[in-house]
Amino acid sequence: TDGVTTIDPGFKNTGSCTSAITFLNGEEGILRYRGYAIEDLAEKASFLEVAYLLIFGELPTSDQLDKFHNDIKAQSHVDEDVKKILDGFPKSAHPMGVLSSLTSALIAFNPSSVNVDSEEDMYKAIVNIMGKFPVLVAWALRKRTGQPLDYGDDNLGYVENILKMMFKKPNSEYKHNQVVVDALDKLLILHADHEQNCSTSTVRIVGSSHAGLFASLSAGINALWGPLHGGANQAVLEMLEAIKEDGGDTKKYMAKAKDKEDPFRLMGFGHRVYKNFDPRARIIKKAADEVLSDLGVEDPILEIAKGLEKEALNDPYFVDRKLYPNVDFYSGIIYRAMGIPVEMFTVMFALGRLPGWIAQWKEMRENKEPIGRPRQVYVGETHREFKEVSKR
Ligand code: SDX
Repeated sequence: TDGVTTIDPGFKNTGSCTSAITFLNGEEGILRYRGYAIEDLAEKASFLEVAYLLIFGELPTSDQLDKFHNDIKAQSHVDEDVKKILDGFPKSAHPMGVLSSLTSALIAFNPSSVNVDSEEDMYKAIVNIMGKFPVLVAWALRKRTGQPLDYGDDNLGYVENILKMMFKKPNSEYKHNQVVVDALDKLLILHADHEQNCSTSTVRIVGSSHAGLFASLSAGINALWGPLHGGANQAVLEMLEAIKEDGGDTKKYMAKAKDKEDPFRLMGFGHRVYKNFDPRARIIKKAADEVLSDLGVEDPILEIAKGLEKEALNDPYFVDRKLYPNVDFYSGIIYRAMGIPVEMFTVMFALGRLPGWIAQWKEMRENKEPIGRPRQVYVGETHREFKEVSKR
């Protein structure tokens, strides 16, 4: 502090806004969307219902849900010219970079999505991106696998249609698998919002300058990409694979994670708010067992993950720092069992977080929040006279 301004690195002790969307209690591991417990929503609701709840504040009646879904389907066509932008990427492009670029590119094809001063315009922009985002997600995957792009099928449910766009093989019928649909629906619900995390704070601060919804979401996607945030779900699988290659030597990785000289962290562990078990991790861990057995998938990685969790929960370094598995620790194991490549894991996180970002952006605009502009404590040079280059 300089006596006037106090610095709070990472905003660990700073509240940026009031919000009525998501409630977290980190000590007790409680997570509620608009007052409803995450355990209830994950078990009893659909992702589209939860998206409606987060964005509009109430669980929808069946008519409201049908209208929401129909309005979204009406917007699920992405302009053919966007494919030309996608074509410009190398196959090796990381899907998160593709997704943030195409989300931003959508602005050029949907200029009316920028000004959202009326409730009607806001609603139109929301169903517009809810319709197009899953197409971009599927296209990002098909770009990597070199498969033809697909717009999906309006007769399918929201999540089932996403799976069809992602996995329908050319020249063959899309094979519906209810286990996979239910698992993805639950995973998307568990990722849908999480109060003022890094990417949501990014969406809010970019939107506070009155940049459009799509521009703010594109910024949020890039924030989520980082391995300390949503990118952790990819980093977890890469870590577990490395341990497996190392003969399952979890002790070596535990030692690395505790070694202050070593930048390595146990990915999928720890959380800024949860100083107890992340309630989502508990649900996902249970779902991982169920989905893998339903799909008849034997994945040694799951056993390595459980072994690592057990060791960490009994290790004073982790216990003292209250480091527990977070949402990213087990989710990748399910994505992999569903046939989703590891580079797409964080894209799946973004797909789930979309309604949360939208809800938070909408709340920020409705609350007429001022433009985000924090201060600093200056620690640089005092005033200096300019020096001619001959004298430098
Ligand atoms: C998500 O905010 C959200 O809600 C995010 C999220 C959401 O839904 O939006 O929940 C999604 O991003 C989950 C987190 C995914 N990230 C990871 O799994 C990456 C590994 N975890 C960490 O890097 C870390 O735990 C964070 C980033 C999640 C939290 O970091 P903090 O709160 O800034 O804590 P910190 O870095 O100050 O660590 C506190 C101590 C340090 O040790 P000391 O300096 O006190 O000795 O704990 C140690 C850290 O070194 N530590 C770890 C560790 N996490 C923290 N040590 C080893 N392995 C880890 N994973």
